[in-house]
Amino acid sequence: MSTILKLEHIYKSFPGVKALDDMQIELEQGEMHAVCGENGAGKSTLMKVITGVYKADNGNMYLNGEKITVKEPNDAYGKGIAIIFQETSLFKDLTVLENMFMGHEPVKSICGIKNLDYAAMYKKADEIFEFLGITDISYDEKIDNLGVAAKQMVEIAKALTYDANILIFDEPTAALTNKEVRSLFETIARLKKQGISMLYISHRMEEIFEIADRVTVIRDGSYVRTANIGEVTEQQLIAWMVGREMGDLYPKVEVELGEPVLKVKNLNKPGLLEDISFEVRKGEILGFAGLAGAGRTEIAECLCGLMKHYSADIEFMGKSFKAKSYRDAIKEGLIYVSEDRKKYGLVVPMSIKENMTMSILYRISKGSFIDFAEEDKTVEKYMKDLGVKAPDKDFVVDNLSGGNQQKVLVAKALCANPSLLILDEPTRGVDVGAKAEIHRIVSNLAKEGLSIIMISSDMPELLGMSDRVVVIKNGKKTGELERKDFSQEQVLEMAL
Ligand SMILES: Nc1ncnc2c1ncn2[C@@H]1O[C@H](COP(=O)(O)OP(=O)(O)OP(=O)(O)O)[C@@H](O)[C@H]1O
Ligand SMILES: [Mg+2]
Repeated sequence: MSTILKLEHIYKSFPGVKALDDMQIELEQGEMHAVCGENGAGKSTLMKVITGVYKADNGNMYLNGEKITVKEPNDAYGKGIAIIFQETSLFKDLTVLENMFMGHEPVKSICGIKNLDYAAMYKKADEIFEFLGITDISYDEKIDNLGVAAKQMVEIAKALTYDANILIFDEPTAALTNKEVRSLFETIARLKKQGISMLYISHRMEEIFEIADRVTVIRDGSYVRTANIGEVTEQQLIAWMVGREMGDLYPKVEVELGEPVLKVKNLNKPGLLEDISFEVRKGEILGFAGLAGAGRTEIAECLCGLMKHYSADIEFMGKSFKAKSYRDAIKEGLIYVSEDRKKYGLVVPMSIKENMTMSILYRISKGSFIDFAEEDKTVEKYMKDLGVKAPDKDFVVDNLSGGNQQKVLVAKALCANPSLLILDEPTRGVDVGAKAEIHRIVSNLAKEGLSIIMISSDMPELLGMSDRVVVIKNGKKTGELERKDFSQEQVLEMAL
C-alpha cells in the first residue's frame, strides 16, 4: 500500500473558532477511510481544506509524496480530488449532462470556430454511467426534477468526468432511504474496485463498520488516532470521539401515562393519507415508523397547519382542533420540528439566540419590553444542555456545523414550552453524544407530562424511545405495537 494523500500540521481558524488545530490524516491508495468526530469537531472543514474551499492558515499537504497547494475547488478537480457535498452543489435549472461537464466542456473547432463537442460529452457520460451502473437517469433531465439519491449519483458522475481518483463523501447517507443507501454502497464498491481512494464522513457507526477499511477520529479540531476498522469496537470509537465513556444511548424513563391529549380520527388527504386514526396520551412518546415517503411527515404537516385540504376529526387538549396555519398551531401548544431544518426550522443568517427565542418572545416579554435577562438565561440553558458548540449565543447559525444546527432547531422547539411536540427525524446528522443528550431531554420532558410524536427512520432510536409505535405504509396505518411487544422484525413486516 502506498500513501496517496497526506496532510499534516493543518490549522484553520474562523473568528472565535479554532476549527482545525494541528490536524493530520493519511489516505492510502484504494482504501475507504472513514472520518469520525462529534458535531463541530472539524470534519467538514478538513474536507473543505483538502478541496480548496477553505485555505488552511498553516500546514502541509502531499499528493503521491509531492507537496501541493490547493487554492480553489477547480485546482482540486485538476488534481483528481472531488467532494460529494451533502447539500449538492449542482445547478438545479441545468440538465444532468450540463452539470456533469460544467466549466470543463470538451470543445472542438469547426472552421476555426470553437463549439461544444456534444459527441465527446455523450461518449464520456455513457462510459461513466455504465461504470456506475446508472440506468434510470436521463442526460436531459433538469436537476430540479431529480430526487436526493439521483442528484448524488450525478455528483459522483460529475466527479468522474474529472477523472477523480480521490473522492470525498460528507455524510452522504443522511437524507437517503435504506434502499438508496444500499445502492450507494454498491456504487462505492465499484469505485473501490477501480482503485479510487475515498474519505467518508458519517455519524452512523454501523455504516462505518460495514464499508470502511480504516477510520480516523478527530476531536475539537485535533487528530486523535487512526485505526484499522477490524481492530476497534464501536464503544472504543465513541469513547475516542467524545473523550470519555458514554452512558446509555436510549435513556427511556418509565412514565405513568395520562389521558389522551390528541385524538385523531379518520385523517384523509386525497392521494396521500387514508383513514388514519391514533391517540397520544399525556407523557407518552408515540413513535411513527415507516419507510421514507410513507406519509409520516404529511400527517405531521396536516396537524400543524402546514398542509391544507385534508379532512379529519381532531381533538387536542379536550377541544376540537384544526390549525389554520403553523402560527395557529404554536399558539395552541403544538410544535413541529421539521426534518428539513432550513425549510421550516431555522433562519440561518440569524444568530443562535434569535432563532431560539423567535417563537417565545411573547412569553418572555414584560408588557412591551423583552426581558433580556430571562431570554439569555433560557438560551444559555439549552445551549449547555444540548452541547451546542459555538463561541457564544450571538454566533450566526449558518456558520455552525450541520449537527449543531440540528441541536439549535431542537432547542428552539423546547424553548416554546409546547403541550405536544412532533419531532421529525430529530437526530439526523447529530453525533452520538448529542443524540443521547437529545434522547435524555425528550425522555425527561415526557416524564414532566409533555406528549411527543417521534418520526424516525432510525429503528433502534424509535424502539428505544417510544411507548407505542404506529406503523404507516403508503399513507395507511398498518399496525400499532405496545412497547412490551416491540420487535424490529415485526415493525419492518408492517412497514414493507
Ligand atoms: N464559515 C465558518 N465561519 C465560522 N465558523 C465556522 C465556519 N465553518 C465552520 N465553522 C466552525 O468550525 C467548527 C468545525 O465545523 P465543521 O463544520 O468542520 O464540523 P463537523 O465536524 O463537520 O460537524 P458536523 O458533524 O456537525 O457536521 C465549528 O465550530 C463551526 O461552527
Ligand atoms: Mg460536517
